[in-house]
Amino acid sequence: MPAALAVFFPLRYTRRCLAKILVTGGAGYIGSHTRYFLEQHGHSVIVVDNLSRGYREAVPDNELRVLNLQDTGKLTDLLQQEKVEAVIHFAAYISVGESTQRPELYFSNNTAGSLSLFEAMLQAGVKRVVFSSTAAAYGIPDRVPISEDQPFAPINPYGESKVMTEKILEWLDRFREFRSVRLRYFNACGASPEAGLGEMHDPETHLIPLILRAVQTGKPVTVFGDDYPTPDGTCIRDYIHVSDLAEAHIFAVEHLLNGGASDVFNVGTGSGHSVKEVVASVERVTGKKVPFTLGPRREGDPPSLVADSSKLQKNLGWKPKRADLDQIVADGWQFANRRLIEAS
Ligand SMILES: NC(=O)c1ccc[n+]([C@@H]2O[C@H](COP(=O)([O-])OP(=O)(O)OC[C@H]3O[C@@H](n4cnc5c(N)ncnc54)[C@H](O)[C@@H]3O)[C@@H](O)[C@H]2O)c1
Repeated sequence: MPAALAVFFPLRYTRRCLAKILVTGGAGYIGSHTRYFLEQHGHSVIVVDNLSRGYREAVPDNELRVLNLQDTGKLTDLLQQEKVEAVIHFAAYISVGESTQRPELYFSNNTAGSLSLFEAMLQAGVKRVVFSSTAAAYGIPDRVPISEDQPFAPINPYGESKVMTEKILEWLDRFREFRSVRLRYFNACGASPEAGLGEMHDPETHLIPLILRAVQTGKPVTVFGDDYPTPDGTCIRDYIHVSDLAEAHIFAVEHLLNGGASDVFNVGTGSGHSVKEVVASVERVTGKKVPFTLGPRREGDPPSLVADSSKLQKNLGWKPKRADLDQIVADGWQFANRRLIEAS
């Protein structure tokens, strides 16, 4: 592009570099979508996953390296041999409930595992990483929508394991010129039927797949609490389509590849939906009644978690393109039905 024109276009469009990117946790839900979209954008990908919670079939055979994050030596060799230029780091355990039963597992796998990866990257001279952080870093927020300047206040070991990793990245930026984009996701959901990818956590703890399963099986899903200070009494969350989330990683990694500085961004739509609104959406999309029972509130569930993601939109040019709740549910429903057919 001529220099005169470059002035009028953001950096992202002036120097679009295609790179070799290592995706950790690429056999999992969000990582597998991101791997797919990276390739659609022309990047080459290597996936590291130990398959503890992921699916071999979510990754092409020639791209998968079955490896644990804790294996610093093998990671260093891989980064060097494959001439990796940047890493997108998803690999982690993600269950809040499990983290309260076994905090040590979460600090070991998520925090120490991340540190092992960063050590390998430093040894291999790879100094750019996009890191999966979470809205759980904010705990029960003072203000909604939540902007990135709200303080860390995690209320469970899962959230703390991510906060600790974010802090490691801040220090590595300051003293080791190790550049990172930390993305704090809200509620990832939906599927990419065109890629044959979707949500398959086991056990599943996320609302939309649980409601879809209730419709498929007729076994009621539990709605935890209907006496919150929200318009219909049920909790409000910001549901971000997994494909939009995957695309946010492409903006983030290209920002780093173009020499961009370390930064932190929320990834959400900026709109919240209550549990009852999600139930109504599932009924519209599937044409079936959702069987549900009412349970008590769960400890530590904030009434409302909605992202202010204007910083990501303004600084990197990302926008959610699939924010319509019925669209999210329809994609999830298509994937859930396909799984059911494959399993029978
Ligand atoms: N799903 C959400 O709504 C959500 C919200 C906020 C943040 N996040 C974060 O996004 C990331 C991905 O979440 P997801 O829903 O795709 O999870 P997932 O469980 O589907 O995928 C995680 C993958 O990491 C792999 N893994 C775990 N520990 C590993 C290790 N030590 N070595 C190698 N591989 C390992 C698992 O096998 C799995 O394939 C996680 O870091 C999670 O904390 C997710």
